[in-house]
Amino acid sequence: LEKIIMDCDPGQDDTIALIMAAAAPELELLAVTTSAGNQTPDKTLNNAMRVLTLLHKSDVPVASGNQKPLLQELMIAPQVHGKTGLDGAILPEPNFAPQQMPAVELMAQILERQPEPVTLVVTGPMTNIALFLQIYPYLKGKIKQLVCMGGAMDYGNFTPTTEFNIAVDPEAAKIVFEAGIPLIMAGLDVTYQAQIYPEEIAEISKIKNAVARSVAGQLAFYGTFYAQEKWGFKGIPLHDPCTVAWLLHPEYFEKKQYHVEVETKGEFTRGQTVVDRWDLLHKPQNVGVLTKVKRAAFVNLLLSSLRKF
Ligand code: BDR
Ligand code: CA
Repeated sequence: LEKIIMDCDPGQDDTIALIMAAAAPELELLAVTTSAGNQTPDKTLNNAMRVLTLLHKSDVPVASGNQKPLLQELMIAPQVHGKTGLDGAILPEPNFAPQQMPAVELMAQILERQPEPVTLVVTGPMTNIALFLQIYPYLKGKIKQLVCMGGAMDYGNFTPTTEFNIAVDPEAAKIVFEAGIPLIMAGLDVTYQAQIYPEEIAEISKIKNAVARSVAGQLAFYGTFYAQEKWGFKGIPLHDPCTVAWLLHPEYFEKKQYHVEVETKGEFTRGQTVVDRWDLLHKPQNVGVLTKVKRAAFVNLLLSSLRKF
């Protein structure tokens, strides 16, 4: 059993990652902490609680994280995720209250209690994790690994070089990438391969349970952004679920160990994850970068997860 904490900013794709984690008997979800990113922190918190209520997981503690990035002002993405951050989702109102403590404190309490190191799954900006490492440096050893959706080897989606999660808080990402924690990065290079095709979305619509219905609604909204011709996509990329899929089925992916730095100063490249593909810098290979995914296997994992509810 792999014990995980999910730090996320739901978000349709964050939600699908949460659902896949909840469906997996191999994973134990110890807590959900929320970050400000896809929407404002009040909304991402509320979304996380509604999703856990839908999943009958209101026993999982939820805490809200930092209200804004470490240095810059918060940037949100309503053009992708809608004005609630989770538009299109059919969800119940939360039937429980969040923890009365900040996300970092909840993480610390949990890691302190756990005998073995815990995996962090991060699918939003890295503000909470950076703060955690600064406030509780002595708990770093309790982080088994950090599996994140963020960054890109080739090109960005927020600026030409920079992926959204890193763009929102580049300083936080820099702290995390330099922390010396085993890091797995599902960047855009792999998440753009993780597309769900229209005929597979039709399969989801045939699954008769509340969770699948909710996902179908979310994809209908979230899909409109990726339907724009400029992307040239056949389907909808499911970014955040790549993290959970990698934990469950690493054999679906190809991974290469590289030295990766986060650019924080560049005039045009702020927030870029600079990947030293040819080991030009001879620096420690601090990140396992996911480079390929077996798309059909990945989508089947999602479908079978949804059939479990
Ligand atoms: C990432 O940004 C967010 O919009 C998604 O939830 C995902 O985490 C993709 O760049
Ligand atoms: Ca996200």
